[in-house]
Amino acid sequence: MEGSLFFLFFLFHTLFLAESSEISIQERMLLKALGLNGKPNPVNPGPVPKTLWSIFKKGIQNDNPCRMEGFEVPGNIVRSYRNQGPLTSSGAPHQSLCSRKHLFFDLSAVEKKEQITLGQLEIKFKRNTYDGQQFQLRLYRILQMSLKGMRQHKTNRKLLVAQSFRLLHKSLYFNLTKVAEDWTNPEKNMGLVLEIFQNATSTKSSSTHCEQINSFIHASLFTVSLDPSGCKTSRTKRSSSSSLPSPANICKKRNFYIDFKDVGWHNWVIAPRGYMANYCHGECPYPLTEMLKGTNHAVLQTLVHSTEPEITPLPSCAPTKLSPISMLYYDNNDNVVLRHYEDMVVDECGCR
Ligand SMILES: *[C@@H]1O[C@H](CO)[C@@H](O)[C@H](O)[C@H]1NC(C)=O
Ligand SMILES: *[C@@H]1O[C@H](CO)[C@@H](O)[C@H](O)[C@H]1NC(C)=O
Repeated sequence: MEGSLFFLFFLFHTLFLAESSEISIQERMLLKALGLNGKPNPVNPGPVPKTLWSIFKKGIQNDNPCRMEGFEVPGNIVRSYRNQGPLTSSGAPHQSLCSRKHLFFDLSAVEKKEQITLGQLEIKFKRNTYDGQQFQLRLYRILQMSLKGMRQHKTNRKLLVAQSFRLLHKSLYFNLTKVAEDWTNPEKNMGLVLEIFQNATSTKSSSTHCEQINSFIHASLFTVSLDPSGCKTSRTKRSSSSSLPSPANICKKRNFYIDFKDVGWHNWVIAPRGYMANYCHGECPYPLTEMLKGTNHAVLQTLVHSTEPEITPLPSCAPTKLSPISMLYYDNNDNVVLRHYEDMVVDECGCR
């Protein structure tokens, strides 16, 4: 069971019972199993993006925790980052330049072992105009920050995108997979510069267009990434379940509901509120019946146990089939994370 998240149950269970000093150690182990360095403490959590809610609601398709519904790329984690760049634009609008914004997304919570398989920037305009006014957009990656600010040092930035667009109340999306990959190293993350120009030849009321666009730009980034350690186990096939009546003390699945409120996690776990984790408990007596879904090894072990009970213990009651769950939570940077975790729910137990 090494590497499996199933021991979560055990930890949750002991969380209730343990002394307060032990709680922190167990909780830390639990958080580590969930891919977190500490207990998130959201300071200023924003709303959960609609896309994340809809993926969460769809659940995990085909019990495959390493795919995210709606994405072509492999992944078990989707993160949504808020723009933490300065609220004000740098430099006053002049001539054809309507807006220059510094965008910054904090990707420091992405773990080293995660592979970024998709990075997408969304630029959303919260107000539209229908007069067909055309704008030019330029997106730069800042390679080096100068103390004087970004204005004079154009050589320290790299043009990623240049395109024209009209404000028709929709979002623009940009593929920043490569950039997001680099940004997982915080030293390489200086953010982006977004510049929006209007065509100088346009009408008299052009300055008002500029003002509008400046105050209604909303930028957000999301990434899909794959933590390969969450995909190791091959799905164990559902064995033909025999429904023989079983004595109360025999190895079987017991229902167990983990309520995140009980463990004090409700302020950062968005959904679910809790889940049916279950656990395995019971005896694996001799002779081991078909019903207990014993492995060949377990059958042999019970046989040996019947002849030398002092030397060889009986097999133990353990999960034989586990299934994944999805969790939606805030991390320490107030970013929203949707993550699939394998082996979180015990579906079947057996002797092994
Ligand atoms: C995004 O860009 C990466 C390379 O940077 C490319 O491999 C990938 O196919 C692109 N994805 C989409 C959806 O265009
Ligand atoms: C706006 O200006 C760009 C160059 O900055 C030019 O390529 C484009 O054709 C212009 N569009 C209109 C509608 O004038």
